[in-house]
Amino acid sequence: MTHRVPWSAQHKKLTANITYSLSNSFAEPLTSDELIKLSLERGDTDIVEQYQKHSLEYTPNGGSLDLREEIAKLYGPDIGSENIIVFPGGQVALQTAAMAVIGPDDHAIVFTPGYQSTQEAPLIAGGSVTRIELKPEEGWQIKPERVAAAVRPNTKYMVFNEPYNPAGTLMSAETQAALKKIAEDNDIIIMSDEVYRLLEHNESDRLPAMADFYDKGISVVTMSKPWGGCGITIGWLALQDLALKERITDMQYFATACASRASEIQGIMTLRSSAWILARNIKIIRDNVALLEKFIDKYGDLFEWVKPTAGAICYIKFTGPLTSAEFAEELAAAGIGIKPAWVFSEPGTLDSGYFRCGYGESIMPRALEALEEFVEDHKDEWREGTKS
Ligand SMILES: Cc1ncc(COP(=O)(O)O)c(C=O)c1O
Repeated sequence: MTHRVPWSAQHKKLTANITYSLSNSFAEPLTSDELIKLSLERGDTDIVEQYQKHSLEYTPNGGSLDLREEIAKLYGPDIGSENIIVFPGGQVALQTAAMAVIGPDDHAIVFTPGYQSTQEAPLIAGGSVTRIELKPEEGWQIKPERVAAAVRPNTKYMVFNEPYNPAGTLMSAETQAALKKIAEDNDIIIMSDEVYRLLEHNESDRLPAMADFYDKGISVVTMSKPWGGCGITIGWLALQDLALKERITDMQYFATACASRASEIQGIMTLRSSAWILARNIKIIRDNVALLEKFIDKYGDLFEWVKPTAGAICYIKFTGPLTSAEFAEELAAAGIGIKPAWVFSEPGTLDSGYFRCGYGESIMPRALEALEEFVEDHKDEWREGTKS
């Protein structure tokens, strides 16, 4: 069995001692107190009482009904509480679904660079993958004709992540429809990683959830990103196909089959306060993107990007005389954390010069200032093309 190293775990070793983080991908977290306060302000004393008094027994496999009902409200009429499977986070949901669907004879289409689980969950499940490369000169957009050309007789699964980690870009409605058509024509299940959905910088860009859009589609979502609730550890899959749901729920028994009730109740509280939390988080994000844009404009000869339109992350190219791996190491030594290109691609892939920068948190402007100070200190030597 190959020892598969998590790319982002490797990266955490590099950023263990940083002061200024630009490497996170979540929106601003609340405290438990703030979440309770929001619930009480809504007059929801019942949920706060449940939080204090709940039993510490097992929760039902696949999630308690009250949480699944609350989640189902995010979708259209084809998705009810019976179409939701709750997991302790999005990553375990991605892997469990791949294990349920993919066997050694099956092939999946995935995209790179990207979050490791969206590329490798089918591989870990024992199948084979074709990685289709996304390119900055194409705005990081998926090209449906390349996807159609990658389909094989044994292609069972396609995994994409839109809004896209690491670039914060979003596919068009036409591309989403074209991918659905390819999947329908070839009997392929689509796993749509929508963990940054609801963080579109302009709400009018929001795409339909795959669970609503395609009867063989699966949406994966987590409290971690739009609501900043990483520590709640609640994610879910939404899907119309109940036979497929049963296969995934059966596979779930062999991993973490139920979340804690405290997490579930925090999940319910978060969803009931969703409008307030999302409005606050989008404001932080838009303000931070404006600062980043100023930074990119100021140092246009050293940095370039495809401006992000969704999520709390962007992929920036350092065009100076360091690879993104070297740039990340120098920044880490100065106490600043970013994610270099190797966190998003197979080992051995050429360093693209890109690094991921997160902008979801209200403390981000201070980290950007630290980055700017670092750039001011080194820009002349970089412009001359010499390493520090
Ligand atoms: C694209 C993508 N999918 C899934 C996840 C996993 O989310 P969770 O924190 O809920 O496990 C992440 C987390 O970074 C992510 O970026």
